[in-house]
Amino acid sequence: MVEIGATTRATEGFAPQLLAVSLYEGESPQDHGEDAARVVSDGDFSGKMGETALLYPKGAIAAERLLLIGLGERDSFTREKLRRTAATVARKARSLKLDEAAFILPVPEGSDVEEAASAAAEGATLGLYRFTRHKSGNDENTTDLESLDLIPEDPSDQEAASRGAATGSKLADAAILARDLANEPSNVATPEYLAERARRIAVDYGMELTVLDRADIEEEGLTGLATVGRSASNEPRFIVLEHRGGGEAAPVVLVGKAVTFDSGGISIKPSAGMEDMKFDMSGGAAVLGAMEAVGALELPLHVVALVPATENLPGGSAFKPGDVLRMHSGKTAEIVTTDAEGRLILADALSYARRYEPSAVVDCATLTGACVVALGAHASGLMGNDEDLIAELQTAGEVTGEKAWPLPLFEEYTEQIKGDTADIKNSGGRGGGALTAGAFLKEFADYPWAHLDIAGTAYGKKGNSYTTKGATGVPARLLVEFLLGRTR
Ligand code: BES
Ligand code: MN
Ligand code: ZN
Repeated sequence: MVEIGATTRATEGFAPQLLAVSLYEGESPQDHGEDAARVVSDGDFSGKMGETALLYPKGAIAAERLLLIGLGERDSFTREKLRRTAATVARKARSLKLDEAAFILPVPEGSDVEEAASAAAEGATLGLYRFTRHKSGNDENTTDLESLDLIPEDPSDQEAASRGAATGSKLADAAILARDLANEPSNVATPEYLAERARRIAVDYGMELTVLDRADIEEEGLTGLATVGRSASNEPRFIVLEHRGGGEAAPVVLVGKAVTFDSGGISIKPSAGMEDMKFDMSGGAAVLGAMEAVGALELPLHVVALVPATENLPGGSAFKPGDVLRMHSGKTAEIVTTDAEGRLILADALSYARRYEPSAVVDCATLTGACVVALGAHASGLMGNDEDLIAELQTAGEVTGEKAWPLPLFEEYTEQIKGDTADIKNSGGRGGGALTAGAFLKEFADYPWAHLDIAGTAYGKKGNSYTTKGATGVPARLLVEFLLGRTR
């Protein structure tokens, strides 16, 4: 993995294979040699966001190559654009097969050097991510940039830049773990595989881990999880990972849906595109990724992760439309469709969370196709019963570029899921599908709670500068930023 650090141009022996210098639109480069000034004055480089020009300064500056990179207009430059810029720099350096590069760190208006360095480290690290472990070895997949040094404009900011780079690298690692787990196919990433990965986090960072197997899940009365997992031969697991960084203080509980494959069950999905349902454990993956960062950053908080993990498959012992379940909380739920399985396993996890008397519970789940229709791939749906918590998460989304947008949970959506033969039903029909799913979960949360529907954001068909096709790692960084906010 690429090592991101901080240095200054005055540092002894400074002569990177590539120095990346960013430019706002309409500005010309200072102190980077004649050719750099020329490419701008001749109009060959205008500084548009993402534009690049590669120059060979031949001794004019202390670098073998100079990469000019456009930032667009100064006023609209943000941390998110910085992530993308740093990713472009890192990818360019890799495609040139370089080992190391340096990047003069631009600082967006309203951010400090540390925050900018964090964003740059996130972007560069995530931009280099590839999921290649199942590809038979070829060089293209094995060469990688070894280090990227950030250079603050003012050398006295080196320490702040170095701190930011360290934080950003850990945030990126959280997203990378989430991506790795989610990209893994369902024949590899089984519920037990997720439990095993949680075990490693527990060992690495001294957290407490409890894993409930099928018998334990039934015994505990986690009926939703037991029922969805009933016909699967890869057994369900209920993963509980606890970080006691804040002693006995009321914890923040993170809940992540981990349906390792969602066929829809008896209410089976159409086969076209069904392969993407290996990503239906992205919520659980993001929660585990976030916990890795909680450990690496040694957050002084009490954090509990709950990951209900199961497959959703048809079979002779599968649950059926019309079935009624008595959930962990005691409420009864009528099954309209076995494809609305996520809310069943989450409801039990939310009800299990009550024992912690949590200060806040945040769940994330690839929960509804309706949310994809509403917000597309650009923002996660954000719902809950506590305006302050919702605002905290929205801010964390804004800061990390993992945008989350509030959606309403009006009483009417709760009305819409009133059961015929049971208290509630697991589908309210087509209208407001993301919101009736949220309303279902709300029935099980009697503490400050928020829900992120990541069905549109957790994975994608095409990447951008710092994502690739497949899992994005959303909302791992959002969750860590939210927790960091609670330590300030
Ligand atoms: N995992 C799906 C939601 C989903 C759909 C995620 C598309 C990503 C892309 C979930 O379990 C599901 O099947 N939801 C149903 C609910 C409906 C049957 C009430 C849906 O959204 O269609
Ligand atoms: Mn489903
Ligand atoms: Zn699902």
